[in-house]
This record gives sequence, C-alpha cells and structure tokens, in this order.
Amino acid sequence: MRIDILTLFPEIFEAFFGSSIIGRAVQTGLVEIGLTNYRDFARNRHRSVDDAPFGGGPGMVMMCGPVFEAVEHVAARQPGAPTKILLTPQGARFDQAIARELASREWLILACGHYEGFDERIRTGLGARELSIGDYVLSGGEAAAMVVTDAIVRLLPGALGDEQSAAEDSFSAELLEYPQFTRPRDFRGLGVPDVLLSGDHARIAAWRRQQAMERTRTRRPDLLAGGELEKE
Ligand code: 6GU
Repeated sequence: MRIDILTLFPEIFEAFFGSSIIGRAVQTGLVEIGLTNYRDFARNRHRSVDDAPFGGGPGMVMMCGPVFEAVEHVAARQPGAPTKILLTPQGARFDQAIARELASREWLILACGHYEGFDERIRTGLGARELSIGDYVLSGGEAAAMVVTDAIVRLLPGALGDEQSAAEDSFSAELLEYPQFTRPRDFRGLGVPDVLLSGDHARIAAWRRQQAMERTRTRRPDLLAGGELEKE
C-alpha cells in the first residue's frame, strides 16, 4: 500500500511514521508513505497557498492551484488511480468501518486542510472524498492524517506482531475492550480480579465478555443501540 500525505508541515510526521507499528510497517515495506508540501506548488512570488474567501468573512481558504498541482504531481508518480481524501472538519466522520474499507485500497492521497478550509472546487474537481476524525476543530488536518494512517496501517496483514489483536480490538467486535491487568499482582494494595489468576479459560472468557458488555453499556450505549448485542 502507498499513502501520500499533502501538508504545509511535512516535518511533523517524521517521528510518528518512524516509530512503533507504522515505523515497522514502513521498514518492512508493508506501506510506503510519501510527504509532499503544498508550498512547493505555489506559483506567485510570495509562495501563497491560501487567499481571502470570495463573499467576505474571516480566515483564509486553500487555493485551487497549489492543491490541484500537488495532487496531480503525486498522482503521476506511478500507474493506478489513488483514492483522494481531504481532511477537514466538514467531512464524514472516520470510523473503524471506513478504516477497513480504506485498508483495502492500494493507494491513498490524504490532503490536510488548513485555515478555513479548501476552495470547494478542490473537492468537486478532484473527485475527492472528505473525512473528519470527530466533532471538534483542529487547527490543521495533520493530526487527523496521523490518526487515519495509524488506523489503516495497523489493519494491513502482517502489521501487528499478533494477528489476534486486530480482530479482538474494540470496535472490531462492536464492543469496548475488557479491562486488562499485568504484573505485579498487588500494586500499592490494588489487586487483580481472582478469575484472571484462576487458569480457568472458560471462566476468564465469560468474565471478559461480561466486562466488555457492561463497559459498552455504561460508556458507549450508542454502540449497542439497535445492534445484535443490545439484548444480550
Ligand atoms: Cl480532519 N481537520 C480539522 N482541522 N479539524 C478536525 C478534523 C480534521 N477532524 C476533526 N476535527
């Protein structure tokens, strides 16, 4: 898989993409990540990538020229048709189902939004889809691009050491994960549930299931609403 990220701040991605699961996926060739700066496609002598909105109003808008040219430059680097995504607070909300869908694509372009957003002709003219990562406003799409990339790359076969963990994660089963404990058995007087030390695998599985259901019911009832697990 290849993921190209378009941004005004490529340097902020380096540590993130060099570390942990994504770092290993890059090292082993599971994913190739490219970083492109819109600024390299600015045309005027100020190297502007944004301008004031037609109709007035606060803030600045990402201009068509540098964004189209950056996307076209990236899209021409290899054969095939990349899936183009704009990261803005106006997008459809990214979730695990979208992560799974995008993990099946061969090539993504993630364009980070800045300022008050993109000129609308960028979305319509490039045939891009727009995604948001949640109901709050970030000052740019960079953190969102990291979130989306992380959620996708960990789903690629071979990205995780243990293939079990992706399947068992919260949201793969539409349930939050059960509580976990590790050594020591007693930490400052705080113990570990006896069942986990019992060695009885059936009881442990039943306890975990019950804990996952209870957590989901109290913290995220929206995940159960109308679904198969609601009655259980
Ligand atoms: Cl993708 N961009 C910005 N600027 N804010 C956001 C977002 C994206 N998703 C949630 N808030």
